[in-house]
Amino acid sequence: MTDTSERGKTVHGSMANAGHRVLAPDDAEVEAYLEVALDAPAPDRDPSDRPAASTDQPAGTVAILDFGSQFAQLIARRVRELNVYSELLPFDTSMAELERRGVRAIILSGGPNSVYDEGAPHPDSAIWSGRIPVLGICYGAQLMALGLGGDVLPAARREYGPASVTITADDGLFTGIEREQPVWMSHGDSITRLPEGFHATAQTDSTAYAGLADPGRNLYGIQFHPEVVHTPAGRQVLRNFVVGIAHIGQSWTPANFIDSTVNEIRERVDAHARVAGTDGNVICALSGGVDSAVAAALVHRAVGDRLTCIYVDHGLMRKKESELLRATFEQNLGMQLVMVDARERFLKRLAGVEDPEQKRRIIGDEFIRVFEEEAARLKSTGGSIDFLTQGTLYPDVIESATAETKTAQKIKTHHNVGGLPADLKFQLIEPLRYLFKDEVRAVGLEMGLPEQMVMRQPFPGPGLAIRIIGAVTAERLDTLRDADWIVIDEIKAAGLYRSVWQSFAILTPVRSVGVMGDGRTYANVVAIRAVTSEDGMTADWAKLPYDVLGKISSRIVNEVPGVNRVVYDISSKPPATIEWE
Ligand code: XMP
Repeated sequence: MTDTSERGKTVHGSMANAGHRVLAPDDAEVEAYLEVALDAPAPDRDPSDRPAASTDQPAGTVAILDFGSQFAQLIARRVRELNVYSELLPFDTSMAELERRGVRAIILSGGPNSVYDEGAPHPDSAIWSGRIPVLGICYGAQLMALGLGGDVLPAARREYGPASVTITADDGLFTGIEREQPVWMSHGDSITRLPEGFHATAQTDSTAYAGLADPGRNLYGIQFHPEVVHTPAGRQVLRNFVVGIAHIGQSWTPANFIDSTVNEIRERVDAHARVAGTDGNVICALSGGVDSAVAAALVHRAVGDRLTCIYVDHGLMRKKESELLRATFEQNLGMQLVMVDARERFLKRLAGVEDPEQKRRIIGDEFIRVFEEEAARLKSTGGSIDFLTQGTLYPDVIESATAETKTAQKIKTHHNVGGLPADLKFQLIEPLRYLFKDEVRAVGLEMGLPEQMVMRQPFPGPGLAIRIIGAVTAERLDTLRDADWIVIDEIKAAGLYRSVWQSFAILTPVRSVGVMGDGRTYANVVAIRAVTSEDGMTADWAKLPYDVLGKISSRIVNEVPGVNRVVYDISSKPPATIEWE
């Protein structure tokens, strides 16, 4: 049995119920509950395990060495958008390791340091050998110049923001690009003398060497950032480097990913089953979010009926959520789906509870109880459970593998119960471990999951409970579900569903006077929240057209009993949060 003090923790080790907001993957919270419930051990990972491409990638991998730039992840994504596999690796990854990983091109990210700072990060000097093409960006270009005998000095003035670059060599990196280009700059130091063998390829008013190259040794540097949208030709520059110079094939596609992942999962599960003498059963918690849905679909394709999905209906879901899940997974995909109707027990425990954090605590705790019961039931009827499927995404892996203070090991220490007999230990299957969110969506669509499921907005683990201000009752849940349905319906009808990060309704405890027909009403106020955001960390209120807001408002007061007033939340985050509780 799990130590109750360990209940309700997220995969990041912090309390899901202590106000911690889980950002990605969108079902991390629900999955963490299952891990706790199953006493799943820490994943069996070597500290040197870094997001690895399988070395048999025929087309080759691009390594992005991370020197601390806020844009490092973005570079990796931009390369993936070229249908080329990329991975973000620590700046000091050795040349031998890069070669072992099948790396065929290296990109050095920018970084906040000066190359002369004490302790400034430097790469393995063997990367300058010319065996693998290298593109240095910003700080990465300065490292290249300095490392090969050039000079880098503090610039007279820091160049930050938009700039105009003049391309002086229209071959190689700049093939097919106009000579004058708007670009994004962010640097204090500048290259003042080129190393031997290099020539200048671009300049700005204040930077003589905005581009440098030694094509004979496959070495290229640029002072500007090609990965940001403010550099419109940036994608072409990256394409020229990856495809034109490094000759890497563009075969990283959803279809290829699905094929190789499904094979890999099947082989792993079969091998384990053979050795352990088990059936190789796999379990997966569906949260209603896209990550667990896609992960489950991949595992199902690999092992079929040996996968059982568990979905806990806590009654705090959006309207028609359970129906959508059942239709998708059971009817369309033919999966074994255990739907646990836990609505009553959640309501009972939430009765009269108004404090948001207490709501979170109760929901996390109850979730784990339900999973524990279900897992015990499955074990007693279906035999061993060997694997647990998780929808871990690449940003989480990067975060844990590259942060010096936080190793992949540490993240799940709270699950490391130890002492379990070997055949009881679950292993994790994390099929999305190398994917960014947009890639997960592309894979989901390619596998035939309905768009309605794959393209949905994030939804918090504690569900509608944290959108009802005050006590949660069955009646208030119904009111909010109806109002929320109308918000989503109208946002979709206006074609805005994908451009906003989240859009939903909140049921406030405020009642106000209204008039309907000939009568006076005294009914609930519903608030509408719609925000734009990149990652949920910061957000702005969405400037929804007045007619869309008007339609939402009139539909809610006309169609939802007990509501006579609708207001629009125009607060940004910070200082407000996206959710009201
Ligand atoms: P806030 O409200 O902190 O939300 O601006 C940021 C993002 O996190 C989601 N969120 C949660 N997700 N459990 C979750 O799994 C939670 O308790 C929780 N609280 C907020 C929120 O929907 C938004 O996308």
